[in-house]
Amino acid sequence: MRADKTSEQKSKLNIVVAIDGPAGAGKSTIARHLARHFGLLNLETGAMYRAFALKALRLDVPLDDSAALGRLAAETDIRLEPGDDENRVLLDGEDVTGQIRNQVVTDAASRVSIFPLIRAAMVKRQQEMGSKGGVVMEGRDIGTVVFPNAEVKIFLDAAPEVRGMRRYDQIGQIGQRGPADAKPLPPPEDVIRDLRARDERDRNRADSPLRPASDAFLLDSTNLTLDEAVKAAEAAVNAWLAKREMADSQR
Ligand code: DC
Repeated sequence: MRADKTSEQKSKLNIVVAIDGPAGAGKSTIARHLARHFGLLNLETGAMYRAFALKALRLDVPLDDSAALGRLAAETDIRLEPGDDENRVLLDGEDVTGQIRNQVVTDAASRVSIFPLIRAAMVKRQQEMGSKGGVVMEGRDIGTVVFPNAEVKIFLDAAPEVRGMRRYDQIGQIGQRGPADAKPLPPPEDVIRDLRARDERDRNRADSPLRPASDAFLLDSTNLTLDEAVKAAEAAVNAWLAKREMADSQR
């Protein structure tokens, strides 16, 4: 029975699959698929930075005041709970899942995530959440900082225009949620421009910049459909599993 197979896989697969890459590269779709396929827990670390940014915005903490943000991080509890489609995000116990995907929070999350004090707090929680393995964790620094010993590391990328259009479609699909977003859909060129600005910040920050781990499987989805990219990621995990099986059989 399928259910049995999944629980069997769950108990066996205590691995960490790290998925890193810029916005719109397809990380969430791929992570979701791998989690379902291999019976792993899907943890979206970007949602944690987003929840923290939401709190800073609500409390009017300046987004460039690293000391104040650091104090705020020390008294903030952020949890991710696995859900079918996306994680449920709890900010100090409040479910903020529907409030963190709008443009204001997206921009704020990218700004607050440059500060080492914030990153250290998030990384610590992420390491706790993944400590038992059995997870697909997606973000920007999972393979380099959070789980440098992850069994499988995938770095996803795609041309900015392609990622921008994917993000544009996504914004259209989910609708913009939350009161800060009672705005019409921005034109595609604005989405691409914002995404480039975010890329720039994520790739050039001093602490844990977005970059592939030296042992990551590089997957460029510019000329792939998301379905093809999903299959390539699945093949990377299967290749690792086959290698482990071979090593086990030689013992
Ligand atoms: O993946 P996302 O778009 O939800 O991430 C939101 C922001 O959080 C992104 O601009 C960079 C930051 N982030 C990070 O610095 N490190 C992570 N592991 C995940 C996200």
